[in-house]
Amino acid sequence: MKKNILVARRVFDSVLERLRVHFEVEPNQDDLIWSKAELIARLQGKDGAFITASERIDAELLDACPQLRAVCNMAVGYNNIDLDACTARGVLASNTPDVLTETTADFGFALMMAAARRMAEGEHFLRRGEWDKWAVDLLAGSDIHGTTLGLLGMGRIGRAIAKRGALGFGMQVIYHNRSRLAPELEQESGARYVSKEALLQQSDHLLLVLPYSPAVHHVIGAAEIALMKPTATLTNIARGGVVDEVALAEALSKHQIAAAGLDVFEGEPAVNPVLLTLPNIVLTPHIASATVKTRLAMADLAADNLIAVLTGGVPPTPLNGQVLQPGLA
Ligand code: GLV
Repeated sequence: MKKNILVARRVFDSVLERLRVHFEVEPNQDDLIWSKAELIARLQGKDGAFITASERIDAELLDACPQLRAVCNMAVGYNNIDLDACTARGVLASNTPDVLTETTADFGFALMMAAARRMAEGEHFLRRGEWDKWAVDLLAGSDIHGTTLGLLGMGRIGRAIAKRGALGFGMQVIYHNRSRLAPELEQESGARYVSKEALLQQSDHLLLVLPYSPAVHHVIGAAEIALMKPTATLTNIARGGVVDEVALAEALSKHQIAAAGLDVFEGEPAVNPVLLTLPNIVLTPHIASATVKTRLAMADLAADNLIAVLTGGVPPTPLNGQVLQPGLA
């Protein structure tokens, strides 16, 4: 008999078809956003769940869904999943690393460039019909090439951005991370390890690419921004919670830093209304991994994990693979 799964959000038809070969599938092709109670109700009798970063999997949900054996996240970040709670209950959790690295790095770099070169501001100015003459300092921004790129976080995506900066744009690349990279990885990324304080003080363009956990909540706040150059830009493609948005808005409005680019927000999809009023910020709706090819690869990888776990195979990208080895969990 086929096992039952819930696909919590709309996915590509080809991925649903693959899942239907193995499972009885309850899809959500209307892409409805369910409350926690509704998610729990729909997970009754389900062995697995295909989820996205929008669905929160915590101890309360797991206790209410005792049949659940696998939660497969279509995202590399997994702060929406209480991994310890999953492991304690023998539930396999997985994410989608690697397949989105280069796409996300492209976007991070583009968002940084858009902020530095005032692209969104220029576009809004043009659309408002305000472009009536050339001017010597019209929307003059700051250079990317030859400047100092700072990375807070240095996982796969950070390293891919570092390479773009060092090799493509002749940037000095500095980084700060929980742990320093092995020398060969530092060399490959063209990046130099510095303290967090030095990173803030020296970066012309600071990019946030660290995984979110409560330990890094508001790791960039008023005190950190105060250390940055007044000409610097700040770009966040990690998770909204790493930046204190109120402090950032205040700093941008006072030109304590030049510009910012945000793809992620603390209360997304709601956006702090103050941010919407600021000209010197580029705002995008959490789309750093959004190319058709990459989103398909992510969905396929989440499906691969779900199929493997529930059919006795080896999931390709587990987060707590020990639950599959009795005795180790
Ligand atoms: C997107 O934010 C992801 O974590 O994949």
